[in-house]
Amino acid sequence: MGAGNKRRYILLFGAQGSGKGTQARLLQDYFDIPQVATGDLFRYNLKNQTELGKLAKSYMERGELVPDEVTNAMVRERLSQPDAQEGAILDGYPRNLAQAQALDEMLAEWGGEVTQAIYIEVSEEELLRRLTGRRVCRECQATYHVVFNPPKQEGVCDRCGGELYQRDDDKDEAAIRRRLEIYMKETLPVIEYYRQRGLLTTVNGEQSIGDVNREIVAAVLNSDEQ
Ligand code: AP5
Ligand code: MG
Ligand code: ZN
Repeated sequence: MGAGNKRRYILLFGAQGSGKGTQARLLQDYFDIPQVATGDLFRYNLKNQTELGKLAKSYMERGELVPDEVTNAMVRERLSQPDAQEGAILDGYPRNLAQAQALDEMLAEWGGEVTQAIYIEVSEEELLRRLTGRRVCRECQATYHVVFNPPKQEGVCDRCGGELYQRDDDKDEAAIRRRLEIYMKETLPVIEYYRQRGLLTTVNGEQSIGDVNREIVAAVLNSDEQ
């Protein structure tokens, strides 16, 4: 959509509640490439009670990472789909160095590479406020917040009319803290990995959703020119 047809693999990093999903939705419309969110894919499988969903369930409930081989295979399958041939916005993947290496290998096989990595930075206090008020659409996974980003009609998705619900892992503060701990331990080294390759842009996530989006779009377009 007006943003050229360069093949892009954009990675979104940020702790739980930093707005990766919210921003990925906006970016997929802007750049006309799909959002690929591993958390959403696992929740979809959970809902449909697939083997993959059953396997992922216990890890997700504890706020732990699903094993890499399962996650990598799922991402490979998703990125092979026809709608992802021009690239994708990866939300929630890679989450550790093993996944980052698996992604590099996958993309190299297809003659592609990671083009941009964006780190959305938000304080812990703000993260907790956001997660407790989050609501998600059962049908299309769009994300809302009861105060910061409410739907037009309470409990109903603006995009598709689907029912909004609260994620199980958002109800349990212990699981939220565990996710944050794992994030610091496993994902910060991945962010560092992309920083060292000169691909990383850090964005202040404590602005309005629109302002965060403008900063990310500017960063992506800017790195195109380099
Ligand atoms: P996942 O679904 O990826 O959860 P997460 O990483 O914890 O991230 P969240 O989805 O909670 O946060 P977000 O950054 O998307 O925030 P959002 O946009 O919703 O993963 C869930 C689980 O799946 C993991 O724990 C793990 O078990 C498993 N998993 C997933 N990926 C895996 C992988 N690669 N390997 C292994 N296991 C994996 O925004 C949050 C709220 O804030 C919303 O209510 C929103 O409306 C609001 N908001 C957003 N932006 C703003 C703003 N600028 N101002 C005010 N409010 C805002
Ligand atoms: Mg998300
Ligand atoms: Zn919806």
